[in-house]
Amino acid sequence: MVKQRFSTAFLRLKWISADLLASVYLMKRAVCPGSFDPVTLGHLDIIERASAQFDEVVIAVLVNRTKSSMFTVQERMEMIAKTTAHLPNIRVDSWSGLLVEYCKSNDIQSIVKGLRAVTDFDYELQMAQVNLQASGVETMFMATAPAHSFLSSSLVKELAHYGGDVSSMVPKIVNEALKARVAESGN
Ligand code: PNS
Repeated sequence: MVKQRFSTAFLRLKWISADLLASVYLMKRAVCPGSFDPVTLGHLDIIERASAQFDEVVIAVLVNRTKSSMFTVQERMEMIAKTTAHLPNIRVDSWSGLLVEYCKSNDIQSIVKGLRAVTDFDYELQMAQVNLQASGVETMFMATAPAHSFLSSSLVKELAHYGGDVSSMVPKIVNEALKARVAESGN
């Protein structure tokens, strides 16, 4: 009797762990990569919509070698973590290197990118094709909400630098961080 109970419990445990393993293995994971210098309401719109489509979404702060930055990678990650705290399946990370290498080592099958306008398309298409050829990782493009189609981190920094009001373009904590950084730089 005791032996039978033990083996039934053992079998159950085996099924549960097999289920658990399968669910972790079959998890649909995506990465939203970018400089996020700083994160804008446009980024957050894409992140929120991506989080509804995948089991887990990693927001990866990457170094874009063609851009100089206003915030450190750590500062950018903190701003993203705070503004996405309400989304349970979001993880924030950083990486310097090829995006596809990051995907491979983190078992990520898809890259999610927001497309604002046709001006984004050529470059994004090229990157998506190179990434697909290099690794088989798919890129999914998400249409930016019309309200954010003009928005970019560069534009926000430019406006903030000259004292413009960016409060409708970025979360409150980012607006405050921008004001503080502009005041610090003193020009
Ligand atoms: O927000 P950004 O600056 O437009 O993001 C561009 C970024 C960082 C996602 C892109 O430059 C990138 O993926 N960099 C990592 C290096 C890499 O994998 N390059 C692509 C080779 S085609």
